[in-house]
Amino acid sequence: MAKRSMYAGDVTAADVDKTLTLKGWVKKSRRLGNLIFVDLRDRAGIVQLVFSAEFDAAALEQANTLRSEFVIEATGTVKARKPEAVNPNMKTGEVEVEVHKLTILNKAKTAPFDIDDNVTATEDTKLKYRYLDLRRPEMQKALMLRSKITMSTNHYFDENGFVYIETPDLTKSTPEGARDYLVPSRVYPGSFYALPQSPQLFKQLLMGAGFDRYFQIARCFRDEDLRGDRQPEFTQIDMETSFLSAEEIQDITEGLLKRVMKDVKGIDIDTPIQKMDWQEAMDRFGSDKPDLRFGMELQDVSDIVKDSDFKVFAGAVADGGQVKAIVLPGGADKYSRKMIDKQQEYIKRFGAKGLAWLKVTDDGISGPISKFFGDGKQLTEPLGAKSGDMILFVASSAKVVRDTLGYLRSYYGKDLGLINEDEFKFVWIVNWPLFEFDEGDQRWVPAHHPFTMPNEEDVHLLDSEPYKAHAQSYDIVLNGYEIGGGSIRIHTREIQEKMLKALDFTPERARQQFGFLLDALDYGFPPHGGLAIGLDRFAMLLAGKDNIRDVIAFPKNSNASEPMTRAPQPVAEDQLVPLGIDVTDKAKAEEDDK
Ligand code: AMO
Ligand code: AMP
Repeated sequence: MAKRSMYAGDVTAADVDKTLTLKGWVKKSRRLGNLIFVDLRDRAGIVQLVFSAEFDAAALEQANTLRSEFVIEATGTVKARKPEAVNPNMKTGEVEVEVHKLTILNKAKTAPFDIDDNVTATEDTKLKYRYLDLRRPEMQKALMLRSKITMSTNHYFDENGFVYIETPDLTKSTPEGARDYLVPSRVYPGSFYALPQSPQLFKQLLMGAGFDRYFQIARCFRDEDLRGDRQPEFTQIDMETSFLSAEEIQDITEGLLKRVMKDVKGIDIDTPIQKMDWQEAMDRFGSDKPDLRFGMELQDVSDIVKDSDFKVFAGAVADGGQVKAIVLPGGADKYSRKMIDKQQEYIKRFGAKGLAWLKVTDDGISGPISKFFGDGKQLTEPLGAKSGDMILFVASSAKVVRDTLGYLRSYYGKDLGLINEDEFKFVWIVNWPLFEFDEGDQRWVPAHHPFTMPNEEDVHLLDSEPYKAHAQSYDIVLNGYEIGGGSIRIHTREIQEKMLKALDFTPERARQQFGFLLDALDYGFPPHGGLAIGLDRFAMLLAGKDNIRDVIAFPKNSNASEPMTRAPQPVAEDQLVPLGIDVTDKAKAEEDDK
């Protein structure tokens, strides 16, 4: 084998007349009279090879047998293409390589799908043949971009005095709010390690140990329902510091974001990044991760409609709820009653009973509820709605209103093309409640995790009305996605015990689950705080994708399985016996059904 001269995708006019050896995959080959043209692909891109009896008869004959995805080595001379043959859409479009020696390094069967960005195969087929899917240029680009983020992050933290420390994967449950993945112990049959949902407790203990500034690119495992921005196994850029304020930690994070955006995208972002109170985000955008690339804010019309004859509105306000609206610019022509009816069905999941709407016309308003509002000026003027706009209303409890309108704002913002896809809009969400109510479990849970420090002036509330307390926590949001979150942590045993008590932990359970942390707090623990950024989500947004699978080499599908290796799988009985595990007949039957 000859030595490769350079990547095929990097050959340009500067290389004309050079003799190069290139290696890679045949993207396609076609015969044109006495010539054969082959597109040769490697990770840098594609270059056109030309075979002719004029250059080498044996190479031409061999080129006849080439098929897509054959792996080849070609040696030839770079030539400028004739002006009419220049392809301005290709980096290598000004040149071609006249081949005089060809070696076939390996053959390939017909791939189950085209190795091309316009692939039409199903997600599961692509995942089953992930190594082929990853050959596609857009996937190569996405993973190389992710690598750049990781490298830029490592440099930044290293230059800022952070120490890289690995924490265990076989550990004890950390409560980040999801179910744990468990690993059975052979040494202690019947006992289990938990895979970490995050390195939270270990990084705090590293502060107790005096490292002062820690970071890690950490794998995290959470057994939760999957979505486009959630995987069971994902990666965090995790950091922790001692003796710093929330603002100082945010400044360090902004430095990281600035560095990565510059290194990876060549973009200078403005700092300081805007900060918004959690309450304000909920009121104005109906979301704790608002997309600030467009307006369409939620507007409260409760006072205007509370005395109207439309009972749905008046009744909601009388019952202590509210009525809020969003204005869809140009929505009157775009959306039919049928489309809104469909939406009406969808928003039931947020608890909404209905979706009222008005179209604004040159002469006033139209739509089924227009009869209650005359010419509509009392609504259209304060809402800033113009002729051709559509207004959507939801009347209900504050929570249902914001969840529903928050969703509708995102949906119509996208659908109406109000979003500049090239923009990166960061915002800090600060001053969070310490707890939130879990409707499913009907109990109060930490809004972040149980180690978050309440605001100083709220510490006393832990004894009396803990649910009114606010937290020293902060989320960093980018384009409507929560890309990271962190907080100042509790560093005294007294407050940590109060916090666990407020979460209904008995002293025994607190000791059993977090005894090691509580003990550590007794031995001179420094004030500390930190943050973690979801690397997958951050990479997804920088790559312009809408699913984190697209920036993860070997992700799980939406059913938490992995179509290539077919994990998870039942294991042999003799692997289970030493673990003391007996799979129930019910589980076996379910497995057989799959
Ligand atoms: P949190 O639970 O908010 O905080 O996680 C931090 C960030 O990780 C990302 N993330 C996920 N990404 C992909 N798939 C998932 N299933 C998933 N879950 C979370 C999000 C999120 O913002 N220990 C704290 C951090 C701290 O307080 O320092 C923690 O884990 O982008
Ligand atoms: P009704 O008078 O119940 O037929 O409702 C008239 C319109 O109001 C319909 O378009 C309903 O979808 C809508 N509507 C009903 N309940 C609500 C609600 N809670 N908030 C907003 N619109 C509603």
